[in-house]
Amino acid sequence: MLPKVMRAYHELGYTIDLGNPTRVYSMIVDEKAHKTLNVSGGMTISDAFLFMQIERVFKPESIFIIGNSFGLSTFVLAELFPNAKIDAIDAEIEGINVGMGTQITRQIAAKHFPNVQVTVGFSPQDLAKATTHAPYGLIFVDGMHTNEQMLLDYAGMLPYAAQECVFVFHDVGFAHMLPSWEKITAEAAPLGFCGSTMAYTQLGTCVLARASQPVLDYLGALSSPFVGAYRTGAKSDEEGAYPKRPFFWDMSFSHIESIVRRKFRRIVGLSAK
Ligand SMILES: C[S@@+](CC[C@H](N)C(=O)[O-])C[C@H]1O[C@@H](n2cnc3c(N)ncnc32)[C@H](O)[C@@H]1O
Repeated sequence: MLPKVMRAYHELGYTIDLGNPTRVYSMIVDEKAHKTLNVSGGMTISDAFLFMQIERVFKPESIFIIGNSFGLSTFVLAELFPNAKIDAIDAEIEGINVGMGTQITRQIAAKHFPNVQVTVGFSPQDLAKATTHAPYGLIFVDGMHTNEQMLLDYAGMLPYAAQECVFVFHDVGFAHMLPSWEKITAEAAPLGFCGSTMAYTQLGTCVLARASQPVLDYLGALSSPFVGAYRTGAKSDEEGAYPKRPFFWDMSFSHIESIVRRKFRRIVGLSAK
């Protein structure tokens, strides 16, 4: 994902693990200590793809990010939008190494991405001190993943949104934040915003845009719905993308087979291996 970003982490002794079939989000690995830093997960390849698509039609002057963690989304955006001023805020509350995540971000920013600035603080209480380059054309909301906090983040950032503005909300599908998404799109419609769900992204990212008609049409064409008969595990058109379902529902056949074999061997008294 964007070699300059990967190399910048590598220079400091870190590798970005972009996920695997059992973990979709990204992590940061300390190569010397041979361990993953205890920080909140970073954006996925499909999110980077989405931002690359947005960049083709929309070039904001300033970008704001709620939730920096170890800086991956901050630098992916800095690389995709080299002319934009980028401000991020993180409360340093998720993971025991998240303070290191901020330090790493500042070190990489100083060397490679002078357009990036990170403030330690809480959204929405500390947004006034972090929003030094308002108004923002692109706002990435990826802080605390609760319905209440998503509403607070949106309301907190609205005064700092540019006339043409794209909000990108991360983890809406994965973290069951569709109720807030629906509330936000309803409240934002009279302000000229239009919502698009990007259900194909690994964590269910949603985009809310107030922009020219060609940009809205473009986002509409990129979008895919969370509901519908063809969603995995959905039984009806109305059912959401992440319904409650039996624990084995998302397991692969090989995973189920290995569990059944283990149980069988235990029953017949063989070693469980
Ligand atoms: C999922 S991580 C962000 C990942 C990052 N956007 C990326 O893709 O690389 C969420 C981060 O939000 C921070 N956070 C949680 N609640 C917050 C709040 N109210 N204000 C600011 N940051 C918050 C956590 O400390 C955590 O580091």
